[in-house]
Amino acid sequence: MAYGWTGEKVRLVPLDQEKHLPNALLWLNDPDITQWTLRGDFPLSRLAEEEWFKHTMSHTNREVVFAIETLEGEHIGFTGIHQIDWRHGTAITGTIIGRKDLWRRGFGTDAVKVRTRYAFEVLGLRMLLSEVMAENVASMRMLLKVGYREVGRIPRRYWKRGAYRDVVLLVMERAL
Ligand SMILES: CC(C)(COP(=O)(O)OP(=O)(O)OC[C@H]1O[C@@H](n2cnc3c(N)ncnc32)[C@H](O)[C@@H]1OP(=O)(O)O)[C@@H](O)C(=O)NCCC(=O)NCCS
Repeated sequence: MAYGWTGEKVRLVPLDQEKHLPNALLWLNDPDITQWTLRGDFPLSRLAEEEWFKHTMSHTNREVVFAIETLEGEHIGFTGIHQIDWRHGTAITGTIIGRKDLWRRGFGTDAVKVRTRYAFEVLGLRMLLSEVMAENVASMRMLLKVGYREVGRIPRRYWKRGAYRDVVLLVMERAL
């Protein structure tokens, strides 16, 4: 039986340690996937990931993380609404499609669409923020397509793969 929040191509489902954790280890330790992510680059152990899963699954008032699955139930990534601030109605978002062979097929865009709808209509948040390294063309295009807009850039903000990289600040606000 399928459950979760469904879009045209993906379904956002609760984390399941047995099904999703082995892929998290594979993907978050893959230098191609973390090439332009803000996190990553340090080895992620099974023990640390198990603790993160346990923590995240039981603190959903601060952070909502979904596994992204195809409509057929295949696990292809993760997407999250982090640092939820209920007073201000804000949160910080991030997405990973771990199945590199499925990049550029619209899965990321659909996951962000479903996540945005969930954040605004279900959680009642009003503003989603995202930080993207300027080199991360895929992530920028995906977020702009769904309705995020660029509100600023910080030059040389993060050290990544041999250089200080600019970061782009993006925001999406709920229509009133
Ligand atoms: C960013 C990411 C989630 C996008 O997922 P995806 O499923 O490939 O995205 P989509 O297929 O929906 O593509 C979104 C847009 O980006 C474009 N795009 C995707 N990959 C691209 C690439 N490598 N270069 C240029 N454009 C790219 C697509 O063409 C599409 O734009 P278009 O419709 O105008 O053509 C995925 O590349 C990923 O997981 N990357 C590694 C982790 C990461 O960087 N996450 C973001 C952290 S901020």
